[in-house]
Amino acid sequence: MTKLPRIVTAVFMGLLLLVGFGRGEDPAAKLRSDQDGLALTPPMGWYPWNEFGQEPQNEKLIKETVEGLVRSGMKEAGYTYIGPDEGICFSRDASGKLTPNLARYPSGLRGLGDYVHQQGLKYALYTDAGTRTCSKAMPGTKGHEFEDMKAFAEWRADYLKVDWCNTTGQTPDSTYPKLRDAQLAAGRPLVFSLCSWGEGQPWKWAASVGHLWRTTGDICGPGKASWTAAMKNVEANEKLSASAGPGHWNDPDMMITGMSGLSEAQNRSLFSLWCMMASPLMAGNDLRSMTESTINILTNREAIGINQDPLGIQGRIVRKDGAAEIWAGKRLFDGSQAVLVFNPGEAPAQVQVTPGDAGFEESASLYARDLWRHQTSGPRAGSIRVTVAPKDVALLRISETSSFPLPPIIVADSYRVVFHASGNSAQKLAQAITVKNNGSSELPLWTVSPGLPAWLSVTVTPSGKTQTFSNKVSVAGLGRGHYHAVVKADNREPISGLPMSALYYDVDLEVSGAAGGPANR
Ligand code: GLA
Repeated sequence: MTKLPRIVTAVFMGLLLLVGFGRGEDPAAKLRSDQDGLALTPPMGWYPWNEFGQEPQNEKLIKETVEGLVRSGMKEAGYTYIGPDEGICFSRDASGKLTPNLARYPSGLRGLGDYVHQQGLKYALYTDAGTRTCSKAMPGTKGHEFEDMKAFAEWRADYLKVDWCNTTGQTPDSTYPKLRDAQLAAGRPLVFSLCSWGEGQPWKWAASVGHLWRTTGDICGPGKASWTAAMKNVEANEKLSASAGPGHWNDPDMMITGMSGLSEAQNRSLFSLWCMMASPLMAGNDLRSMTESTINILTNREAIGINQDPLGIQGRIVRKDGAAEIWAGKRLFDGSQAVLVFNPGEAPAQVQVTPGDAGFEESASLYARDLWRHQTSGPRAGSIRVTVAPKDVALLRISETSSFPLPPIIVADSYRVVFHASGNSAQKLAQAITVKNNGSSELPLWTVSPGLPAWLSVTVTPSGKTQTFSNKVSVAGLGRGHYHAVVKADNREPISGLPMSALYYDVDLEVSGAAGGPANR
């Protein structure tokens, strides 16, 4: 039962690629992620809007949040993308060019990006498809699509959220493709996030445009977490499960887990629902001051493993039992199945989860792993009985075997390498970054894409679950100036054989003085 579906899936996905998206030329017929290999699992990170609104979004907040994200263990659990939302980041100068707001971001938007990259995180920025952003505090891209996308590339954004305010006379299905083309022309691969709140039904056409799209209105106003609003978003998003998959995700908005006003059970439930719906795990709370309980929820790697599963299936409600909802239909990369029992009601719920609910033969003998209690039971035939408190969940992983491998969780020590070469006495010409997998398996060696500039070579060496990317530059013959390259590497998940999200990092070389001498390492 476990082997066959994997093979069938691989063949099916291969056919999809060949028949559905392999015909080439027409960008509208291709998944956006086919071109860049990005977001093959739901993006994970943090955006400030839910907690802070516009105030105080600034460099200090972003840097303190980076520290909080690292300190809390969220980075080690896979959270990567971070940056300002509508944080009064830039204005447009008289010549039409975007210029950073240095009062709020003294290092400039490129400087902030460099800081984020050097912490081993990825840089997220925000803009709008209309004339102005929602509060009108920042310019939108309308009429400046190509130059703005160039600015985001120069600031080294790895993720761009494109909002939908002030778009009178525009339609999402014509505007966002134009922005896609402008962004592709700017040349920097990034995760492209459509934020039209479901307007224009992006799940029907946007897989060739972006990697994720909002399916709903805002989950809350700044600082005002609302369980009721979150439930409305879940209800709408649940219906769209067929549209999600690797590289193209339904986005029911940033999370509110850990914001004030929610109980521990509600926080756990919301996070479990986001994991089960293969939703982007963008935290929206204040990461600088989290309770232990919030940290434990946001960093539960077994729950994250469900979300980051390489098959990328969005679970759905398969059955209701009284007030309780049984969510399933989410087969995982090792042949196991995720099942969520969610009790939105007011009284405790007792539910029997049948093997059939979980996608197995009714006669199957199964192991069940409780992903919040971190306990495995079984093997047993027949139903699994769970009792769930009001507003709480049981998140289970059910399998014919007793092993529950975690899919890859990729963590880098840095996404930027900087070389300084001064005339003929170039000093440090080899530098490394390390990339480790906090999932279960050792990965195959990362494959670096061809096409690096002549001055750069990269070799990858493994050591257990860490791989080292050694970057060597040769300045011989280079004139003074600044040189930049983006390194791309690909890998595959060893159990399922499915492609993993591509890894990108920046290499900067500064040559000052005369042309550099021969490389010294
Ligand atoms: C919209 C988006 C929010 C946030 C705000 C900023 O409402 O949906 O996520 O970006 O704009 O104004």
